[in-house]
Amino acid sequence: MELTIKRAEKLKSKPDDANLGFGTLFTDHMFNMDYDTEKGWHSPRIEPYAHFEMDPATMFLHYGQAVFEGLKAYRTESGNIQLFRPQENIKRLNRSCRRLCIPEVDEDFALDAMKQLIALEQDWVPSAPETSLYIRPNIIAMDPFLGVRSSYTYRFYIILSPVGVYYPEGFNPVKILVTSDYVRAVRGGVGEAKTPANYAASLLAGEEAHKAGYTQVLWLDGVEQKYLEEVGSMNIFFVIDDEIITPELNGSILPGITRKSVLELAKHWGEKASERQISIDELMNAHASGKLKEVFGAGTAAVISPVGQIKYGDKVITIADNQVGPVAKKYYKAITDIQYGKAEDPMGWIVPVS
Ligand code: COI
Repeated sequence: MELTIKRAEKLKSKPDDANLGFGTLFTDHMFNMDYDTEKGWHSPRIEPYAHFEMDPATMFLHYGQAVFEGLKAYRTESGNIQLFRPQENIKRLNRSCRRLCIPEVDEDFALDAMKQLIALEQDWVPSAPETSLYIRPNIIAMDPFLGVRSSYTYRFYIILSPVGVYYPEGFNPVKILVTSDYVRAVRGGVGEAKTPANYAASLLAGEEAHKAGYTQVLWLDGVEQKYLEEVGSMNIFFVIDDEIITPELNGSILPGITRKSVLELAKHWGEKASERQISIDELMNAHASGKLKEVFGAGTAAVISPVGQIKYGDKVITIADNQVGPVAKKYYKAITDIQYGKAEDPMGWIVPVS
């Protein structure tokens, strides 16, 4: 398949790197590719960023048959651009595709297309501290049809957005609320796929958490509402005594790439890290006995995000004096130093773009 490139005639003005929010600005070009049952994936092209024109009956608008990814391109101090474990994102995109009955994409081709798009948009990769170019691949079902079945046609597209920090708190502790009123996902559902339904399911609880003064929701399992799962926009880690614990992947938790990187770094450093079931009662007891040292989230958008307060029922616990703890700090530094090329990459995680 040959990738064609059509350049925009007029380029947008670039934003001030120092004042980037998250997900509001988009670059001049995008990648598009189509699928139908006869041709398979075809017509890959980089073209000017543009609105889609689509039939109001387009299937993904009705039944949510869609998957997406989130990863970042980083500018190093020497001005080069690099990606962090992009193959993992493309592999996960295909895993999500399988769950949503969407035809998989060729992983090498998708990575190459992504790299070509970023290379074309290299002037959009910001250089201020904690900024990056967020990459959002998406696949959506395109048949105009109102019956419930999987679509015969799809669009795969990639857009790019220069971003700063995801949470307004930056690398300061966030407050999270454990909800027992709603569940995000259940085993056997779509919780482990990166698909819009999971995010739609989280909105009401998220709004209620915001109203109560919390940044995010910490979800319990959808069956017993007993075991801790994830935060929706990130996975979660607990430091109890000298052990780093994250809920094991059970079918309803998103297999995060930053999560995986924390676990692999812990192993590389010989630290005690486990993936296991951890209940909300164990967490509250660990806090009561002084054993809960830190809590932090891990995600592409959130990077490593310390948690300073957790509310469960009428109990509010404060963790590490609402300060950034040493474990979160160490993983944040190690991961971002690799991402921004400030440190060696002993794990082979970096893929250069230019
Ligand atoms: C990411 O971390 O890249 C995500 O897709 C999470 C989203 C809430 C921004």
